[in-house]
Amino acid sequence: MDSRLWWLAVLPVLAFRRGSHLAAGGFLSAPKTSVLGIIGDRVLLPCQVGSVPIPEDFSIRWTFHGQSQRIPVSSYDGKDRREEPDERYQGRAEFFHRDFRAGNVSLLLRNVQSSDQGSYSCEVSFQDVSREVLVELEVAAIGEAPSVILRSPEKQDLGLSCRASGWFPRPELLWLDRHGKVRRESMTTTATVTPGGLFSVEASLRIQPGSDLEISCRILNRRLSASRESRIRIHDVFLPSISQWLRIFLAVLFLNMALISVVFCQIRAKIQFKKRFGQMKAELDFWEARSHAVPVALDPEARPLDLGDAQDPLQVPVLVARDALGAGKCYWEVELGRERDWALGVLRDGPSLAGPHSWDSRHSRHCWALRASQGQLFSSGSGSRLLREQSRGLSALGVFLDSEEERLEFYDVEQRDLVAGMSLGAGEDPSGKFFPFVSQGEEGTLRIRSVPMPVPL
Ligand SMILES: *[C@@H]1O[C@H](CO)[C@@H](O)[C@H](O)[C@H]1NC(C)=O
Repeated sequence: MDSRLWWLAVLPVLAFRRGSHLAAGGFLSAPKTSVLGIIGDRVLLPCQVGSVPIPEDFSIRWTFHGQSQRIPVSSYDGKDRREEPDERYQGRAEFFHRDFRAGNVSLLLRNVQSSDQGSYSCEVSFQDVSREVLVELEVAAIGEAPSVILRSPEKQDLGLSCRASGWFPRPELLWLDRHGKVRRESMTTTATVTPGGLFSVEASLRIQPGSDLEISCRILNRRLSASRESRIRIHDVFLPSISQWLRIFLAVLFLNMALISVVFCQIRAKIQFKKRFGQMKAELDFWEARSHAVPVALDPEARPLDLGDAQDPLQVPVLVARDALGAGKCYWEVELGRERDWALGVLRDGPSLAGPHSWDSRHSRHCWALRASQGQLFSSGSGSRLLREQSRGLSALGVFLDSEEERLEFYDVEQRDLVAGMSLGAGEDPSGKFFPFVSQGEEGTLRIRSVPMPVPL
């Protein structure tokens, strides 16, 4: 075999082998390991033509190899650009024109973005020969230092959370103890991607009282072998005491609340019971009194009666019952009609009196009455006494006389409620007889009302 022919066969093999360690393309070389670019910084994508000096007539084309498409980054063909770069790279990619002659066809990429990560091809063409080599770009970013936040205690544990943003690629988050060892707690780190393509990470940790209270949170970027750390120290007495005091405080508060509510409920129940019981009793008394209803007939002849006292005499014309009331309990009702000023009650005749027709002002001390005047309600017995500011709302009054108990009571018939009660104090003359009376109003509408027959209880 001809030795020259042998060389022809071997040459391509040698060229191939030489090209393999210079990267594909033979006369083009690029780094075999990927290039690291810091986000926001500039990065050099190296590409070198091996055979120098290179001819005058040549062209360079850098292309980004995306998922499915090829994106033009920058190109040069001696005079003007061969194709427009993609807008992603517009104004960011630059050649070293002065170093072309030395075979330096590297590309400088400014303001690196997270989306710049990937494969770039450097293609150099001379006349009819074209070679291409790939450059791998990795990007990374160191974000802000983590912030450790102490959250409100859950049960008796304290919650910590750690948060950091602006990292690329997704960093690791580690909780470390005081000795710098990784804590064993199982934890989940959540990561979110910001619109700029950077990562935010967050993780939380629960610490029990008595455990190591010096804790750090470390954010680790393995690509850059860089980390940032924040340390928190919880004072030893802080954690147990806060929960203990909180518990004591809450217990005391709860006890107080319980006591207060119990007392409050009792008071309320008492008040309500008293009110209800009072109402019930008054109503029962009313029905009891009414069960002693007696007929009363008035003498149509009006007589003056002094209802005032020694200092303030008050003459009122009254109509007196024809017949004295029987012994024991008696009840009758008086309709007030439209009368605004009125008086009604009982008179007692003494042994000095000749009969029921001889009433005069001298006997006012034997008179017990309820009197309304200018909207006010008075009791007249031993002296006048204001009972209520308001006498309106009364339409009928029931008068109950218990001569055994020596009591006179007035009931509001509508409300079935006691309006006034007074002691007769008839000790001086227990034998006297009682006569009902009503004032003779201007309109003459005050009248005795017939009470239905007592309902047997
Ligand atoms: C090319 O030129 C740039 C700028 O002078 C330099 O930084 C770089 O090292 C040179 N060589 C290569 C292989 O990129």
